[in-house]
Amino acid sequence: MQLLDGKYVSEKLKIEIATEAAQILAETGRKPHLVAVLVGHDGGSETYVASKIKNCEAVGFKSTLVRYEGDVTEEELLKKVEELNADPDIDGIIVQLPLPKHIDPEKVTEKIDYRKDVDGFHPVNLGRMQRNLPSFIPATPFGITLMLKEYGIDTAGKHCVVVGRSNIVGSPMSILMARNTYPGNCTVTICHSRTPSIKDFTLQADILIVAIGKKNFITADMVKPGAVIIDVGMNRETSTVTKSGFKLFGDVDFENVAPKASWITPVPGGVGLMTIIGLLKNTLASAKKEVYK
Ligand code: GUN
Repeated sequence: MQLLDGKYVSEKLKIEIATEAAQILAETGRKPHLVAVLVGHDGGSETYVASKIKNCEAVGFKSTLVRYEGDVTEEELLKKVEELNADPDIDGIIVQLPLPKHIDPEKVTEKIDYRKDVDGFHPVNLGRMQRNLPSFIPATPFGITLMLKEYGIDTAGKHCVVVGRSNIVGSPMSILMARNTYPGNCTVTICHSRTPSIKDFTLQADILIVAIGKKNFITADMVKPGAVIIDVGMNRETSTVTKSGFKLFGDVDFENVAPKASWITPVPGGVGLMTIIGLLKNTLASAKKEVYK
């Protein structure tokens, strides 16, 4: 078993991103600029957004955090998005999900100018991605492709089983792995909450990507020997041991699955760190007008 080391790959790619950001600053006098909008005080969202802001600063981007209390109206949030869309100093806009129940996430997603949609959630970006056209690719699936590339993992002709069909991970990931690109060219199966006997499918996976949000969901008996295992799980539990007061668990029973795998991502230290890289790369591409003129 070998580790797909998110810490190693993300640090390496951050240096490349920082170098490009410095070049942009030297040539244009401006930094790539990401705006993150955070509504309410969800513990996970607070952590993720703080990490996004911190990493922007670390690579020489400008970042702005726009905060709202959980009772902000949908109308006010949509108005803010319009304002951010119109501001020429902003390259990327993300609205952290989940949003409170009274706000329709689809309305917010579609309100973001697709040319600044560095989350890649807008239907224009999703459609363009599916067609293999230049687009912003959702950060977690993008980060996973960068990791597979870094380690030269063979994907063509493999059976990739994606567990979970979320708009953020499972669904876009399945599209990427089926595309006629590298990484890609897989036969893709998507499993979800209505799939009977998920094990029948996971046992066939050469590449198993798990984004279901349940600790230890994938056990050793569900994995084919030699499989590549990508664990997207970010299950937070309170802990008296860690400094943060939380401990992170993946969706995969790492201890028992790892000995059967050819490659596996740890949690923490795997996909989570690569998600940040996906976001930074999209923001950089937006600043350079690489995707849309
Ligand atoms: N919530 C969980 N992951 C993400 C993400 O990548 N982007 C946004 N905006 N919200 C999220």
